[in-house]
Amino acid sequence: MTLLEVLQSTTAYFAKREIESPRLNAEHLLAHSLGRKRIELYLEFERALDEAELAPLRELVRRRGQGEPLQHLLGTVEFCGRTFVCDKRALIPRPETEELVEHLLKSEIGKQKPEILDVGTGSGVIALSLAAAVPEAKVHAIDLSEDALALARQNAEMLGLGSRVSFARSNLLRDVKGSFDLIVANLPYVPAADGPTLPREVLHDPALAMFGG
Ligand SMILES: C[S@@+](CC[C@H](N)C(=O)[O-])C[C@H]1O[C@@H](n2cnc3c(N)ncnc32)[C@H](O)[C@@H]1O
Repeated sequence: MTLLEVLQSTTAYFAKREIESPRLNAEHLLAHSLGRKRIELYLEFERALDEAELAPLRELVRRRGQGEPLQHLLGTVEFCGRTFVCDKRALIPRPETEELVEHLLKSEIGKQKPEILDVGTGSGVIALSLAAAVPEAKVHAIDLSEDALALARQNAEMLGLGSRVSFARSNLLRDVKGSFDLIVANLPYVPAADGPTLPREVLHDPALAMFGG
């Protein structure tokens, strides 16, 4: 099968499995599995893929078809122009949260030397995006989940922000000392009773990150 044929059959399979944006998902997984950029696929459409290339792709396609989130299969997510490690230890960052960060960066916060606290940091996307964009900022990030904190620390190291952002475990503000110019929080807000009605992909996010009781 050529790369284009694989792309087309994967897209059709995802559409049948009611995966949103089937072609985009197929391109991401194919590029990831071949170690290419998505745009580079277009230069190889006529190339025949061999079994060694198809086997790992098949497994990714199977898992995606069963509702495993694309970001977990890729192992990364783009957020505010940066790449973050993404796995089941924390919530997959949502586009609306990028809007929150962009809104904050347009405010006065970028013009001061702010002390910032991110409550419920998850993968660290808010804290780390703010720290990267505001070099004078001192950023602290807390979460109740040790798993999320481990992922956030990993992201901080990967982005070279390990010395700029501190991470600690705290139940809301219980173990937090000091005062802050900005407290930002994207805490769980889905009622637990809504669990059974949520799309299957959302159930891959940690319950602690999703349900507000
Ligand atoms: C909706 S997720 C948001 C994660 C991240 N800030 C983002 O926007 O992608 C909520 C986060 O709050 C954390 N959390 C839940 N209850 C908490 C609590 N009582 N104290 C601190 N963090 C909590 C969860 O572990 C999770 O990482």
